Amino acid sequence: MSFKKDFAIGSLKLPHNIIYAPLAEYTDFAYRRLIRDFHIGLMFCEMIKMEALVREKSTKLLKYTKNMLPIGAQLLGANSNVATDAARKLEDLGFDIIDFNCGCPVQKVTKDGSGAAMLKNPKQIFEILKKLVEAVKIPVSIKIRLGWDDNSIVASEIVKIAIDAGAKMITIHGRTKKQGYSGRSNWDYIKECKNVAKNDILVIGNGDLYTPDDVKSMFESTNVDGVMIARGMLSSPWLSSDIESYFTNKNKPNISRKKILLKYISYLIEEKKDKAVFDLRRISGWFLRGSRDIKSLRIGINAAVNIDETIKLIERFNWEEE
Ligand SMILES: Cc1cc2nc3c(=O)[nH]c(=O)nc-3n(C[C@H](O)[C@H](O)[C@H](O)COP(=O)(O)O)c2cc1C
Repeated sequence: MSFKKDFAIGSLKLPHNIIYAPLAEYTDFAYRRLIRDFHIGLMFCEMIKMEALVREKSTKLLKYTKNMLPIGAQLLGANSNVATDAARKLEDLGFDIIDFNCGCPVQKVTKDGSGAAMLKNPKQIFEILKKLVEAVKIPVSIKIRLGWDDNSIVASEIVKIAIDAGAKMITIHGRTKKQGYSGRSNWDYIKECKNVAKNDILVIGNGDLYTPDDVKSMFESTNVDGVMIARGMLSSPWLSSDIESYFTNKNKPNISRKKILLKYISYLIEEKKDKAVFDLRRISGWFLRGSRDIKSLRIGINAAVNIDETIKLIERFNWEEE
């Protein structure tokens, strides 16, 4: 498989097979507003705990506007008793797809058996996934890592479980829980998962995709049905449109990092008011990565005490546009 227009996940029709990942504390409402300018395909909200979703009347993490469609929500949890209610609530809220998180490596998540800890419990994965699938009409997918560590790789076993449970798509992040976010994503295992899946479930490759060339290599070496971009979208929110231009031989649109950053700040201010300055510190480390002579700006943004100061720094900086 390669870049493909008109891609379908079960009943969900998408413009192409490039997906933007859920990223906790990053793909919030303001960031999703920004990426929608460049990414016409499927994007996700940040992950949300099933219990919290079922308990709470409204949830800020899941706010979206119509132009953010198609949009997916991602559930986290290990308790099959709340799966049905959580899934129905997401469907009622108008989401296009529900993903089940079996990859989060953070200790406060794995300690109750959720996220990557689910990989130690394939039977429970089946039980929860089946409940999600049976609860809703929209497609259900799952996102996994290879396994807990190098001695417990379970990815291809989970592919079969996902097929049996009725999931329409499985995203494979080619790292183990033990690796966290370091080392390389092992695409050989992703290829093995695609071989096991045949055409019974869509397999999406994830990990280390920062350029259109990376995406081409992923398609060629694994034969996956689509790809999921994660940290690559934090440094280049426009990566999706670059990928599309690359595969369709169109000219890459001109990008002004400065303008995009200022636009993002305007979205952040609408959402976070005074707190925007703190969110910006977190994201600017990613967003400014790779830009020339950026160190002083990054230090300035981290030290700024209010957003007006940050904006002045950005306006005054000598940007070398790419
Ligand atoms: C800050 C951060 C937050 C993340 N949050 C989520 C999340 O909410 N749900 C999820 O499935 N994966 C999450 N991930 C994992 C990514 O979706 C992706 O699987 C991983 O970063 C590997 O892809 P990459 O090498 O392209 O970054 C997160 C990763 C990072 C770095």
